[in-house]
Amino acid sequence: MLSLVVLISGGGSNLRALLEASQDAEFPARVIAVGADRDAEGFEHAEEFGIPTFSVALSAFADRDAWGDALLEQVRLWNADLVVLSGFMKLLPPRVVAALSPQLINTHPAYLPEFPGAHGVRDALAAGVSETGASVIIVDNGVDSGPIISQQRVPVLPGDTEHDLHDRIKIVERELLLQAVLDIANGHVDLKELA
Ligand code: GRF
Repeated sequence: MLSLVVLISGGGSNLRALLEASQDAEFPARVIAVGADRDAEGFEHAEEFGIPTFSVALSAFADRDAWGDALLEQVRLWNADLVVLSGFMKLLPPRVVAALSPQLINTHPAYLPEFPGAHGVRDALAAGVSETGASVIIVDNGVDSGPIISQQRVPVLPGDTEHDLHDRIKIVERELLLQAVLDIANGHVDLKELA
C-alpha cells in the first residue's frame, strides 16, 4: 500500500478525489496526512475523512529556506512513500525538492511544457489556443519543468471563461492523478527511472 502526504493551498478537489479513491479497498494508495501553506479550505475534505492536517505558513518564518525546513519536518513525520502537490501554490526551496524528489509529484492545469506557472489556465486563454490540457509531473527545481508522468489534451471551447476551462481541466487532472498514483503503486511507473 502506497502512503501519501498531499499538500494543498486551495479547495482541494484533487485531494478529495484521492481521499475517495483511498476508501476503495482495491485502490493501492492511502492519504495519511494533508498539509498546506495556509488554513486551506480543502482541509475540510481531510477532516471529513478523518485524516490529520498540518499547516506551515511562509509568513511565520524569516525566509523561504526556514519555512521549507519546517514544512519538510512536518512531511517527514509521516514517512510517506509519495508526496503529492495538488494545487500547492508555493515553490518549494531546492533543499526540500532534493530531500523528497523523485517521490514528489505535482499536477498542473496545462499541457506542459506549455503554460507553466501559477496561471496556466489564464495564460492558455490569453494565448488564444484551441486546446490546452493537464499534466502530472515529477517536481524538480524549475517551475513546472520536471519529467512528465502523464498528460492529456483538453479543448478550449468558444466563450470559455477561466473558471469554465479550469473546471473542465480539473476533471482530467483528477483522472490523470489517480491513474498516476495507481501506476506508481503498481510499479508500472518508476519515478526513479523517469527522473
Ligand atoms: C488545480 O488545477 C491545480 O493543478 C492548480 O490549482 C488547482 C487546484 O485545485 N494549480 P484544487 O485545490 O485541487 O481544487
